[in-house]
Amino acid sequence: MERKTQFKISKVFPRRWSPRAMSGESISKEQLFALFEAARWAPSAFNNQPWRFIYAMNGTKEWNLFFNLLIDFNKMWAKNASNLILVISKKSFELNNKPNPTHSFETGAAWMSLALQGSMDGLVTHTISGFDYEKARTDLKIPDDYNIEAMVVIGKEGKKEDLSEDLQKMEVQSDRKNIEEFVFEGGFNENPWMYRMYWKNNIQINERTNKEG
Ligand SMILES: Cc1cc2nc3c(=O)[nH]c(=O)nc-3n(C[C@H](O)[C@H](O)[C@H](O)COP(=O)(O)O)c2cc1C
Repeated sequence: MERKTQFKISKVFPRRWSPRAMSGESISKEQLFALFEAARWAPSAFNNQPWRFIYAMNGTKEWNLFFNLLIDFNKMWAKNASNLILVISKKSFELNNKPNPTHSFETGAAWMSLALQGSMDGLVTHTISGFDYEKARTDLKIPDDYNIEAMVVIGKEGKKEDLSEDLQKMEVQSDRKNIEEFVFEGGFNENPWMYRMYWKNNIQINERTNKEG
């Protein structure tokens, strides 16, 4: 089922989602590096490019090092991945070593490019924060000047039926808040829940709950 948008936009945005069903097959190095190539073109302040990606391939000796960082819930499905990628960002500018306040913002942009490219290439790219950040820093020897952002699970699409029953129930495409709840004209709106969203007979209802709104 196609996810509905409020405004007309490219389908690449609602079509990207985070499935958990993966086939267990490997993707090629070309496919993997096409994702890093997409990330490469993200913009950043002073073109500093603070993102770094550290990856492991399923079946290699490094895989266990990455996989063992995951919480049990994520291990249940990520075991069928092709690759795990740790996304980190350099906290200071390379030019002058001064703090870069937007290192996470820029690395988020690079990650989203990677995720959109993966989706357009028909791959599963599922980002996770359910892993041990401290252990990741120690085991993967991440220096203090780098922030650990997230991990991305990459794989080939699999069958929903091969997931456990509980995971099958979760294998649905989620919806989003309405634009009115996060876009404010002219100033910050302290009551973003001005609109209440709910479903009635499979139709999404948007109700104003703030009489001043
Ligand atoms: C930073 C981040 C951390 C996440 N952590 C997990 C996780 O640990 N386990 C998981 O199954 N999904 C995780 N997700 C996936 C989100 O639940 C998912 O992106 C969100 O529900 C929106 O759904 P969609 O990506 O299918 O559009 C994470 C996503 C992001 C961006």
